[in-house]
Amino acid sequence: MIPYQLIRRKRDGERLAADEITAFFSAYADGRLPDYQMSAFLMATFFAGLDTDELAALVDVMLHSGVQLDLSAIPGPRIDKHSTGGVGDKASLVLAPLVASLGVRVPMMSGRGLGHTGGTVDKLESIPGFRVDLSLERMMRQLDAIGCALITQTEEIVPLDRKLYALRDVTGTVESIPLIASSIMSKKIAEGVDGLVLDVKRGSGAFLPDVERGLRLAQTMIGIGEVYNRRTVALVTAMDRPLGFAVGNAIEVEEAIFALRGEGPPDLRELTIALAVEMLLLAGWTDAHAARRDAERALDDGRALEMMRRIIEAQDGNPAVLDDPALLPQAPVREVLIADRDGWIGEMDVRGIGDAAVALGAGRATLGASIDPAVGFHITAKPGRHVARGEPLATIFAASVDDAQTAVRALRRCIRVGEEKPEVLPLISHRVTASGPSLVR
Ligand code: URA
Repeated sequence: MIPYQLIRRKRDGERLAADEITAFFSAYADGRLPDYQMSAFLMATFFAGLDTDELAALVDVMLHSGVQLDLSAIPGPRIDKHSTGGVGDKASLVLAPLVASLGVRVPMMSGRGLGHTGGTVDKLESIPGFRVDLSLERMMRQLDAIGCALITQTEEIVPLDRKLYALRDVTGTVESIPLIASSIMSKKIAEGVDGLVLDVKRGSGAFLPDVERGLRLAQTMIGIGEVYNRRTVALVTAMDRPLGFAVGNAIEVEEAIFALRGEGPPDLRELTIALAVEMLLLAGWTDAHAARRDAERALDDGRALEMMRRIIEAQDGNPAVLDDPALLPQAPVREVLIADRDGWIGEMDVRGIGDAAVALGAGRATLGASIDPAVGFHITAKPGRHVARGEPLATIFAASVDDAQTAVRALRRCIRVGEEKPEVLPLISHRVTASGPSLVR
């Protein structure tokens, strides 16, 4: 293999043979191909795409770069959920214990914040003592004993994705359908689940904002799931505003705790229930109405909250946060952003809100940087709502007055109040299965 020839051919839109893809990516996984050649190839792929056979070869080489878990010794359906990434998306923190409380095994392996999007693992780590770095053996024992484990992607599972992801993050090559699809699906297949529910975000805070590309991404991932015999369903959901109100880490955990007590924001509850229904259907429930009723009951009668308590205890965290969220890290400075005029909250720059949260310290500007678990926002304004001058739009939780003022200026650019009422996206617009997409009403 001569790497620059493959880069050139991909750049010119040529289709590569499966063994060429395998050779190129294996060389990178083994450290024989430098970052600069892989960066060039990723950018060529960003523009030229990959066809089905090329994508299949890429998924295969990614999967075989690490271990594949065998969960067959753990009885019961094993189902996971993955989101393509959003701002304020804390649904997993409610969903995983909820579905596990109904007897489904949920081995949830999540990532850290990425670009402008938050990560479940960073949020969980804001719970004092909580460990996400369980060994695979401990994770399997916990899955067997209580039905759910919330862990970080380990070194052993798809190490090639870790390398590629870090490179994509700094080379402007995240927003590619085949690269996102192979990254997500290789990890989920390696994790050994029987079924997978995907939350594909659309709107200004999503990696792929327009619905056509979101649908194509969903169908691409479902196609990969079919090849590996993992039943996969996707919901296409709104990210033209943050999910719920909280954006950050500890403050998102706090909001998730309220949702687990049945007191969370309505959109968080609605999305969590919809994703739970899909997970339950994959787990063997035959009727969506019964699945919805069971999910609502488990949330309302405290079973989901109790499951979260067991998970936190099992992973060395302090479960008292569930009774007293004030035990979570608290930011010393609070500042309120207010509307400077009467009008409609217009279309939001949700990516900008995510970037402002990263700048405040809630995410990482460089790989491996540390985060401040306490900082973030409550974005109480939602697009399409009418506000009066002086009404609060957001609260900033910051480490210093300077940081808070910088965030106020950034948020003012992202949350605009104007004359016109904007169109807002439906919370859930499409359900996508192997038979294709359908509109959700
Ligand atoms: N999440 C992932 O795991 N990978 C991507 O490429 C994008 C979102």
